Formats: sequence, structure tokens, C-alpha cells
Amino acid sequence: MTIQQLISKKRLKKELTNEEIEFWIKGVAKNEFQDYELAALLMAITINGMTEAETTKLTIEMANSGKMMDLSKIEGIKADKHSTGGISDTTTIALVPILADLGLKMVKMSGRSLGFTGGTIDKLEAIDGFNTEISEKKFIDGVKKVGASIMAQTQDVAVADKKLYALRDVTDTVQSIPLIASSIMSKKLASGADIILLDVKFGEGAFMKTAKDATTLAKAMVKIGKNAGRKMCAIITSMEQPLGNGIGCTLEIRDAVEVLNGAQNRLSEVVIAICVEILKLAYGYSDAVAKEKVLNSISSGSALNKLKEIVKNQDGNEEIISDLSLLKKAAHTKVLKAENNGKIVAINGEMLGEACKLLGGGRIKKGEPILHEVGIDMKVALNDDVTTDTDLVNIHYNDKKNLDEIIKMIYGAFTISSTKKSVKTKLINKIVR
Ligand code: URA
Repeated sequence: MTIQQLISKKRLKKELTNEEIEFWIKGVAKNEFQDYELAALLMAITINGMTEAETTKLTIEMANSGKMMDLSKIEGIKADKHSTGGISDTTTIALVPILADLGLKMVKMSGRSLGFTGGTIDKLEAIDGFNTEISEKKFIDGVKKVGASIMAQTQDVAVADKKLYALRDVTDTVQSIPLIASSIMSKKLASGADIILLDVKFGEGAFMKTAKDATTLAKAMVKIGKNAGRKMCAIITSMEQPLGNGIGCTLEIRDAVEVLNGAQNRLSEVVIAICVEILKLAYGYSDAVAKEKVLNSISSGSALNKLKEIVKNQDGNEEIISDLSLLKKAAHTKVLKAENNGKIVAINGEMLGEACKLLGGGRIKKGEPILHEVGIDMKVALNDDVTTDTDLVNIHYNDKKNLDEIIKMIYGAFTISSTKKSVKTKLINKIVR
């Protein structure tokens, strides 16, 4: 078998066999192929696609190319959740304690972001002392002890995916649905959970721009997971505006804690919907029963206490959860008022994310440190009526460098119109089971 035969088959829209996919991915892991050979194969796949059977096999092979988490020592139903990424998306930090409080074993390996703002790991590190670089043993012990652990994904997970992703990034082959689906799902399969819930975002500031594309990706990933023997569900959610109020690590921790204190907003809507779907998969509850359990966990204060336990168990200062004023603060704040009167008809989350990155709240290069305390606190939402007296955002910043450019970007992210009608938005577009 040669890699050229595989390239030729995919160019001619033929299906690769299991043996051929194994040959390809084992070869990638052992660095047996040239970048140009792999790039040609990836491009042929991007143009001609892959069948469900090919995509499932590719995912399983990529998962097996690295470390597979062994969760067999943990009793109970193990659940994981993954978001394809959006602006001010801090659902994980709110939903993990709710589900752990309700008896699930939450096994969460998350990333540091290279995107506009921090990833879940960066946000948790905004809590003084919180340790995300924990060993597998501490991860498993934490799940056994408090029902949840959250750790930074290690470099040895899905090794072949890492190599292929680096090539896709520079050969315009990132956008292929089977390649995205297998890339995301290989890491999810490797993390070992019985239940996997995917939050697939669409809109400005999301990887998928339309609900239709997000649904196609979600369906592909749900099929892969089911074929690999996992219980699966995907929720398709809108990124037509940032999900929470805060954009930036400490502001997003605040948003998550507010959900656990009973706040009702867009973020809580998505958190509750995800918890309901995971509980239904785990215990076969009806919608109504699952929702009642989630709301009780929040209103009784149990979920908030569970977050404190999780924080303490990973060496963080749990007092911060009861007293958010202990979170590190930026040196300065500046309120921006709306520039004119009218209705907010569009909010470009991507531009707000870029502005947050310029404040120092996101990474430009891999491995760079980020400032947890800076960010943008939104004071308005889509369809709000505003005047020039209305606060639009409060900027949390440490120095004036780039501030004029940042202010310009933030104003550019809001479209205020005195003639346009309200925008119809549906936060939870669809659930794929
Ligand atoms: N995220 C991933 O992990 N892989 C992709 O291909 C795209 C987004």
C-alpha cells in the first residue's frame, strides 16, 4: 500500500477501506509521510468528502494515535461537553458543578485558546491558585472525590490529529466537515466519557457561520460518537451576539458564578439546556423532570457549593466564588456611551473578541501569557433601544496602549439604527440527537 494510492482514490471519489485509513493515520503518527503527500490527500478529501464509515474510522484511528484516558476506576456515568467556541462562552464553568451536584461524573479536558479570548483553562486560572496542569491521577481522584475535574488537554492526546491540523491550517483544508468532525471527535473519544454533548455555535464570531452548516457539522459528529459507542447529543446555538455579558477571563468567571446564583439570561438559558440534555441521556428523565432538577440545584445553592468544592480540590481560592470582588481587577475602567439614538440591530462578536485580544485578554502567539483581568463588559444586548446616554460597554484595561484603536473597534462592533426593525433571534436553534 502507498500513500499515492490513497490520494488517487480520494481524487477519484472512491471510499478508503479501514486498512487504508489505518495505514494513513499510523504513518502520520510515525512521521512516515511527506507534508506534500498528506496535503494532497487532505485537499482531495476537502473537495470530494468522506463517507460516514470513513469518517468514523478516521476518528477512531486519530483517537488511538495518542493517549486514551482510562476512566475505568471511576464509578458512575461519565460525561463531557465540548463547545466549538464562541465569544463570552463560559457555559462549562457553570454547568460542570450543576451536573456534578446531580450525580454525574464530569470529566473535562479543555484547551487554552489561541482565539480572541481565553479558553476554559485560562478562565479558571483567573481564580487565584486554580491548578489545571494536574496529573491523570489527580484528575481521576478529583472526579471520584467531588464529582468533577477540569484539566488542560495534554500534548499526547490524538497525536495524528495535531500533525494533520497543523497542515490543514496552512493548506486551506480546515473547512472540510469530515475533517473538522473527526478532528474534534478524536479528542473527545480519547477523553473517555460515556456521554458527550456538543455545543455547536453559528454566527459572526463562530467557526460555522450559518445554522445550516453548524447542523451539518453537528450531525456528522453525533453519528461518529454513536458509531463509536458513546451517547451523543448536539445543541446548535447562536453567536449573533456574545453569549454572556463579559468578554475576558475574570468577567466570564463572574458571569458563570452569577448563573449559579440564579441569574436568568442568555448564558443561563444555554447552560440549563445543556444540563437538561445530558441528564436525559444519563438517566432517561423527561424534559420537565430534568429541568426541575437543574433549577433546584441552582436555587438551593448546591451547585454553587459544588463549584467551591471543585475550585478547592484543584488548589484554587474558593472564597472567590462567594466574593467576586476578590477576583483580580484591571487598573482602569472606561464606560463607552452609545454614539447615537436607535435600536441595536447587530453586534459583531468577532470584533469585540479582537478588541479583547488587543487589551491583552487573548493570545496572538501560542503559549503567550494572557491578562485575566482585562476585558469588555457589555451593558446592552441585541434589540435594546439606546440613546446617547446609554452605557454600551465598560472597558477593563491596564494601560492606554492601543486604547484609541480598541475604542474604535468596539464602536464598530455595534450597529445602531433608528429605522431597522428588531432582529429575530433564536438562541437555541436546534437539538441534534
Ligand atoms: N477544532 C478542532 O479541534 N479541529 C478542527 O478541525 C476544527 C476546530
